[in-house]
Amino acid sequence: MIRKLISFAFPFTRIVKSEYNGNLELTTIFGKTYLNTANTNYSYGSLQKVLKFSLKQIDVTKAEHILVLGLGGGSVLKTLRTDFKFAGRITAVDIDPVIIEISKNEFGISNNENTSVVCADALDYLTGTLEKFDILIIDLFIDNRIPARFLTETFWCEVINRLKNKGTIIFNMLNSQHFSIQIVENVLRKHGLVWKIFREVEKTNNILIAY
Ligand SMILES: C[S@@+](CC[C@H](N)C(=O)[O-])C[C@H]1O[C@@H](n2cnc3c(N)ncnc32)[C@H](O)[C@@H]1O
Repeated sequence: MIRKLISFAFPFTRIVKSEYNGNLELTTIFGKTYLNTANTNYSYGSLQKVLKFSLKQIDVTKAEHILVLGLGGGSVLKTLRTDFKFAGRITAVDIDPVIIEISKNEFGISNNENTSVVCADALDYLTGTLEKFDILIIDLFIDNRIPARFLTETFWCEVINRLKNKGTIIFNMLNSQHFSIQIVENVLRKHGLVWKIFREVEKTNNILIAY
């Protein structure tokens, strides 16, 4: 509480070292804390607005179980619970135990009857679960890059395997990272999904939404 009050006069940043994500920055300004990496915002800043925009494009009300790949600080969980009043189950996966600690200690994200936080690699999680999800949010970054394995046919086939009939996929990309999504589009097409890409969301992100 005292830290929050001080931040109105003196914004400050704490650095937390992570084996996976490098130096994580927790910046508190005007009473609000943001999670950033060296080159991008991870949680509670523009990223949260981008995912909120994405969720507004789809119908969250009928969903029972949402999978978030890339927990970060958990800002999309707050958006779902607070802005969309989503009361169903959320499973959130992250490879980085340091990030999971931050999400718990700084942002109050922890396991409860409707929320499961899993420390695992996203692809390993998909291959190891039998659950199917109504909405899959793919928000997987190391700093400002999506790791190459999340742009492969193997990963996207697993994503589609875990999607319920009539489910929706939200895939977040930064428009500063230049790569082809040809493989992703081929897999979606092969499985009969249709998709739309929203470009320059918050000026920085491209969002693919597939149904
Ligand atoms: C932009 S942050 C996610 C932000 C989060 N969705 C939110 O709403 O606040 C990206 C996350 O992807 C995670 N990540 C990167 N590679 C991963 C992998 N192989 N498996 C699981 N999580 C991974 C990072 O540790 C990081 O926490």
